[in-house]
Amino acid sequence: GNKLGSKKERTLAMIKPDAVNKMGDILQMINDANLILTKAKMTKLTWKQAADFYTEHQTKSFFHNLVQFMTSGPVVAMELMGDEAVSVWRRILGPTDSGVARKEAPPSLRAQFGTDGTRNAGHGSDSLASAARELEFFFPSTAGHGPANTANCTDC
Ligand code: TYD
Ligand code: MG
Repeated sequence: GNKLGSKKERTLAMIKPDAVNKMGDILQMINDANLILTKAKMTKLTWKQAADFYTEHQTKSFFHNLVQFMTSGPVVAMELMGDEAVSVWRRILGPTDSGVARKEAPPSLRAQFGTDGTRNAGHGSDSLASAARELEFFFPSTAGHGPANTANCTDC
């Protein structure tokens, strides 16, 4: 239900290559948290795509290992919708480092399905602004493009 004072949000959730075979368990966690799965896409990221997705981390020492891991197999990108979806999904993920997650939040997704500080099973947008950017990355809107508008287009 939509309780008074609650905020309906959308967030970008991603199952990383090390947890794609746990999709059933992860969908169960999504349902248990009253989040709705509204879009999903399985895709294998190119090096450039993974580097662009994590561009805020491009100067970090872990960047190369991160992109290497993110391109090591397919990922599942999902749009989740619900009350405070951004923070609810981050809470389901648990701490960034799966080793820390196993100490601080044993039931969390990263505790159960991840390995360490890089191979950590899942991603979640950290703010509404990040969610908007990351949803557009995986599920681009076609407004202003495509067949519907080409009739009057003189240069396409
Ligand atoms: P970050 O945005 O800090 O964490 P989160 O995914 O919880 O938002 O980092 C992005 C990813 O980069 C993180 O999921 C795993 C990887 N990473 C490392 O490999 N080593 C590190 O020391 C950190 C902080 C992150
Ligand atoms: Mg982050």
